[in-house]
Amino acid sequence: MSKVLITSALPYVNGVPHLGHIVGCLLPSDVYARFNRMLGNEVLYICGTDEHGTPSEVGAAKEGLEVSAYCDKYHALHRETYRAFNLSFDYFGRTSSPQNEELVNHIFSKIDENGYIEEKSIKQIFSIDDDRFLPDRYVTGTCPHCGYDKARGDQCENCTKVLEPTDLINPRSTISGSTNLEVRETKHLFLKLPMVEQRLAEWIKTKEPFWPDVAYSIAQKWLKEGLQPRCITRDLKWGFKVNKPGFEDKVFYVWFDAPIGYMGITKQWADEQPENRNWKDWWLGAKDVRYVEFMGKDNVPFHSISFPATLLATGEDWTFVDYLKGMSYLTFEGGKFSKSEKRGIFAGDAVQEFPADYWRYWLMSNAPESSDSSFSFDLFASVINKDLNGVLGNFVSRVLKMTSSKIGDTVPAGGELTALENDLFANLQTRINDYLKYMNEMEFRKALNELRAIWVEGNNYITVAEPWTVIKTDPLRAAAILRICMNLIRIFAALSAPVMPETSEAMLQRFGLKTSDLPGLKDFDVAREMTALQPGQPFTVGDPLFERITPERIEELKQKYGSTTC
Ligand code: 2FM
Ligand code: ZN
Repeated sequence: MSKVLITSALPYVNGVPHLGHIVGCLLPSDVYARFNRMLGNEVLYICGTDEHGTPSEVGAAKEGLEVSAYCDKYHALHRETYRAFNLSFDYFGRTSSPQNEELVNHIFSKIDENGYIEEKSIKQIFSIDDDRFLPDRYVTGTCPHCGYDKARGDQCENCTKVLEPTDLINPRSTISGSTNLEVRETKHLFLKLPMVEQRLAEWIKTKEPFWPDVAYSIAQKWLKEGLQPRCITRDLKWGFKVNKPGFEDKVFYVWFDAPIGYMGITKQWADEQPENRNWKDWWLGAKDVRYVEFMGKDNVPFHSISFPATLLATGEDWTFVDYLKGMSYLTFEGGKFSKSEKRGIFAGDAVQEFPADYWRYWLMSNAPESSDSSFSFDLFASVINKDLNGVLGNFVSRVLKMTSSKIGDTVPAGGELTALENDLFANLQTRINDYLKYMNEMEFRKALNELRAIWVEGNNYITVAEPWTVIKTDPLRAAAILRICMNLIRIFAALSAPVMPETSEAMLQRFGLKTSDLPGLKDFDVAREMTALQPGQPFTVGDPLFERITPERIEELKQKYGSTTC
C-alpha cells in the first residue's frame, strides 16, 4: 500500500465558489483521492480555506463583522458547499489556525537563521482616500508586460507574470477606485530566492517527464526570467504577526502562510484524530509519501517556485510536490463567472438545481486540462441527456425492468457463455485498463471518455444479444445475458464511483449492496468480476437514475443564471 498525499489549492475564504473553482482543483483532486482509495492506497486528502489577506479585511468591513467572525461565516459556507458536491476531504481546515501559526513561525525562524531573509525598505502604494497601504491585490492597473488593463498588483492573470504593484501603469485602488495614491516607504522582509535558484532549477529539472505541460512550462518560464527576492510581509492587521524585532506591526504575506497551510491543516487533522496521528508522517522525513497537488495555473509559480524555495531554505527534510496538476480555466458561455454581474452558476446554486453527480460528470468530462473549456447549459444538458440518461441510466433500467418482468426479482440462473461474452470481456478489459491508466495519469478527459465507452459496450452488448427476442426460444440463454448485464451494472458502479459516488451507490442499492462492497480497482479483472453477482441475489428495479433535462428547463436556467446566448 502506497501513501498518497493529495492537496487541493486552498480557496480564498471570501470568494463564493463557482463551477470554475470546483473543476479548477477541488473536484479533480477529489476524483483522484477517491480513485486512489479504491486502488487500496493510504490517502490523506487535505484542503481548507485561505483566510488571511486584505480581501478578508475588506469583506468583513463591508459586512460590519470582525474579520475572524467573517472568516468563520464563510469557512462554514465553503465547507457546506463542498459537502454538497461530495468532496471527500480527510480534513477541511483553515490557514488561520493556531497549528498553522506555529508552523509558519517555525519555518520563518529556520529560514531567517539560515540567512535566507533580508530586510529592505520598499516603496508601497498608500491610498490617501482609503487611509491605508494597498496590498498588491488591491491595486489595479495595466500590466507592463502584456497590456492587460485589469492586472492586479500581485500577478497579471492574463499573462501569469508575477508583479509588484508599483510595476502597474495607471494604478488605482481596487477598494475605492481612487487614483489618489502615493508611494510611501515601508520596511519589509524578503526571502532571498536567488540563493536557492540553482537548487530549485535542479529539482524542477527532475520533474520534466512527470508534470503536465501547463505546470512545467510555467515553472521553466519563471526560472528563465531569473528569480528576485520576494517580499513575505505586509502592512496589515489581519494575519500572523511577524516574530522578529522591528517587524511587530507587520503580518506575514498571505502567500507565505497559505502553502504552509497544507501542513498546518494536516496538523489540525492529526490533532483531532482519536488515535493521535502525527502530521510529520506525511510532511517531514516522509520518504514513503507521494505528494500530488492540484491547482489552477495561476497558482503554479507559487507552488513550483516560492513555496519549494521556502522549504529548501529551511534545510529541513520537507515533503516536496511530486506531481503538480495545474489546471486551466473554465469559462461561462465563453466569458468570466461574475457574482456581481450575475453571470454564471455558482456552486451552491448548482447543487440546488441538479444532483451533484450531474455536475461532477459534466465537469470532469470537460475538465480544462491542456486548455480552457467553456460551460454552457446547452452542452451540459446534451451531455447529461446523452451520456447519463441515454447510455448509463437507460442500460440499468432496461436490464432490471426486463429481468423483473420476464424472469423475476433475483439475479437469474442458467445459460452458457458464448463467443459474444468472450468478446465483451476482452473489449472491456482493454477499455478498463485504459481508463485506469488515464486516471492514474490524471488525464481526466481521456479517462471519462473511456468510462463512457465502457457504458456503451454494455449497451452494444445487450443490443446484439437481444435477450427480449432470445427469451422466446431459449430462456436459459436470455437469463445468462441478463445476469451478465447485471454484473455489468456492478462493474459500472465500481468504475464510476470516483466520479459519481451517489450514482454508484444507487446502482449498488439495486442489489442490496453498499459502497464498502465494491471491488478495488487495482488489477481489475473483468472475467472475475462478471461472476460477483450470483444467481438468486435479490434486486429491485428502483427509480430512473437520471432525469432528462428538457429544452424548457434549459431556457429557464439560461434566464436565471445570465447566459448570454439565450
Ligand atoms: O488562488 C487561490 O485561490 C489561493 N487561495 C490558493 C492558495 S493555495 C495554497 F497556497 F495553499
Ligand atoms: Zn500581463
